[in-house]
Amino acid sequence: MNILGIETSCDETAAAVVSDGRIVRSNVISSQIALHHAHGGVVPELAARGQVTAILPVVRQALDDAGKTADDIDAVAYTEGPGLAGSLLVGVNVAKTYAFALGKPTIPVNHLEGHVYANWLHAEDDSDFVAPEFPAVCLLVSGGHTELLLLRDHHDYEVLGTTLDDAAGEAFDKGARLLGLGYPGGPAIQRASEGGDSHAFDLPRAWLPGTMNFSFSGLKTALLRVAQEYRLPDETPKPTGQIFPEHRPPRYRDDLPLADLAASFEEAIVDVLAAKLARAADAHHARSVLIAGGVAANRRLRDRVETLLGDRMIVRWPTMSLCTDNAAMIAGRAWQRVQTGGWGDLAGDAYPRLPIGQAVG
Ligand code: KG4
Ligand code: ZN
Repeated sequence: MNILGIETSCDETAAAVVSDGRIVRSNVISSQIALHHAHGGVVPELAARGQVTAILPVVRQALDDAGKTADDIDAVAYTEGPGLAGSLLVGVNVAKTYAFALGKPTIPVNHLEGHVYANWLHAEDDSDFVAPEFPAVCLLVSGGHTELLLLRDHHDYEVLGTTLDDAAGEAFDKGARLLGLGYPGGPAIQRASEGGDSHAFDLPRAWLPGTMNFSFSGLKTALLRVAQEYRLPDETPKPTGQIFPEHRPPRYRDDLPLADLAASFEEAIVDVLAAKLARAADAHHARSVLIAGGVAANRRLRDRVETLLGDRMIVRWPTMSLCTDNAAMIAGRAWQRVQTGGWGDLAGDAYPRLPIGQAVG
């Protein structure tokens, strides 16, 4: 079964064709990073406009890359949320209109479930692929969410822990912003940390004993305190008359130990994420651990989890292009729901869903 997936929850416009929930035939992602970079973060209004411009060429490209025509598509899956309302609406409308015109069903998919299911995707010629086994513990770390999940099977989930304040990706983004490294913050911090000493600064970890929850706001404040010692005074801004003003990054003295600071900050986030994931995996006798969401692209996090757990269980993370937002994960999760429940729009909300991520964020 070939499912066309469409994902427009934030600032990426994505479409993909996936066969039988696993084999990625095409995966097209149009990024708006250049559009938002000057503003230091995503501007929702600009994101929605960007989605409108990109969506049709992206869908066409996904079909072409897969070598499929409309006749080959059995269903259209789309992200129903959580996400930015204006961005989501573009994908929902295109998916429903296209499916209606073809006389094919649509399948709404929770964005976060999609991230988890990126771990079941692979290329057709990937003979080394090992599918996750249950029970699995998944660390879902994106720009908007941080969740530790116990997956008993495809439709039996439990949230073991969540963040009490910032999401892990948000912590990376805010940390990068205050260091003047730009957006998106995770890759910027990872780059800046290269060659740095991750123990140079003793930044705080919120262990929150007795819980599987996370907190990153104290870490952010600690980073701010260190960085402020090196900060140069801001220049007086000149009025620009722009509707969406440009972000003015802070300026620092040349002796700011950027690599050490970025490495220590990254280490403080990874340390807690990996330790709690390992604790949860052991407590629930997991056969697999999965990392999902944009922060799963982080090299230090991948290496740490592999070191802690790799010799005891299956450790999986999606390939780089499937960690951050993409539509293959939406098509993959849609197929899984079809296997156990039927068609989304025809049966309404008859499927068990992850009890997470209902808020827009
Ligand atoms: O899953 P995603 O693409 O979008 C959401 O659903 O939020 O995740 C985006 C987040 C951003 O916060 C970004 O800074 C973070 O993923 N990210 C990373 C890396 N690449 C992306 N964080 C740490 N290290 C990375 N290499
Ligand atoms: Zn995402």
